[in-house]
Amino acid sequence: MRRWGANQAIEIVGRSSRLVEILGKARKIAAYDDPVLITGESGTGKESLAAALHVLGRRRERPFVSVNCPQYQEGNLTVSELFGHRKGSFTGAVSDRKGCFETAQGGVVFLDEIGDLNMSAQVMLLRTLANGEFQPLGSDTVRKADVRIVAATNRALNQLVFEQHFRNDLLFRLRHFLLELPPLRHREDDWLLLIDYCLDRLHHRHGVAKHFSPNALRLLESYPWPGNVRELIGIVTTGYALADGAIIQPRDFADRIELSGSAPAETDLDRIGRKLQSQSGDFWTLVHQPFLDRDLSRREVRRLVARGLRDARGSYRRLLDLWRLPATEYKRFMGFLRHHRLQPDGFRDREP
Ligand SMILES: Nc1ncnc2c1ncn2[C@@H]1O[C@H](COP(=O)(O)OP(=O)(O)O)[C@@H](O)[C@H]1O
Ligand SMILES: [Mg+2]
Repeated sequence: MRRWGANQAIEIVGRSSRLVEILGKARKIAAYDDPVLITGESGTGKESLAAALHVLGRRRERPFVSVNCPQYQEGNLTVSELFGHRKGSFTGAVSDRKGCFETAQGGVVFLDEIGDLNMSAQVMLLRTLANGEFQPLGSDTVRKADVRIVAATNRALNQLVFEQHFRNDLLFRLRHFLLELPPLRHREDDWLLLIDYCLDRLHHRHGVAKHFSPNALRLLESYPWPGNVRELIGIVTTGYALADGAIIQPRDFADRIELSGSAPAETDLDRIGRKLQSQSGDFWTLVHQPFLDRDLSRREVRRLVARGLRDARGSYRRLLDLWRLPATEYKRFMGFLRHHRLQPDGFRDREP
């Protein structure tokens, strides 16, 4: 059981349409006392959103108590964690104990990983939800539960109901309001905002400003973030700590990405970009011809050129070099880009 201070700052960073929509919904339902179920993969910010509901609601001056259900597998322990017990009510109950419903009186109880709640605790929780009362184990007095319940899960509760590991009537009550947090990979460019947010925080804490190299950002651009925001924070923190200078390179965090299993999916553009820098084909066969054949769009070519220029620190001459074209082809190369308006915005051809 963890208690949060009433003034704990909650920052939820993101501008993607799906996140903005969810935050709007959270703002509306914060004022009510009915249960909320938050679903989402691990690390998507379920607990942060629950804490935000607390801060936005009228219970903000009262406690926010967070309970992790699976840590207490055995029946009595979970029940006691939630509702408390009287001394001697079961083996090991050597003294009276307050449960989180009592600690949180007037506030919010956050039940994390609700899908792991055992059956006896499910029965008691259902009773509390139905009549607003609870009874500590071994106690003969019934107490009023003046709390808002916010539950979270990363598991498909419907499936658990089907497998008879979760009570359908409990699920029905818990999901009075439903907030579905999308995985980070479905949140447009939020990952970039989050990286800046983390770098700012680290700068503030350690006094040194650092940022990611273009290569490093490119590596992360196609990364599916299986561990979502929690993983992103870990990667930025590792990269920041291990970078030698002010620039964080892929080598400073690459092992964390490989550790998390699924390798980033390589897109067609990634593949072409990689080939341009190797011996396997040149610009004229990999980009020029496909563009004329309409196999590559203007937008795609611009994107390739923009990425190349980032690596070439903004110089078209260095880009030619990077893409293994002889300097004598500079005119032809630039002529092609200009003629088809393929020069990306934000990069000026600095050479005469
Ligand atoms: N949108 C966000 N903006 C800033 N920090 C976030 C955001 N979402 C999650 N976090 C941070 O990421 C970490 C994991 O979030 P958490 O709420 O514990 O996820 P979950 O409960 O879904 O596993 C926490 O440190 C949290 O503060
Ligand atoms: Mg969590």
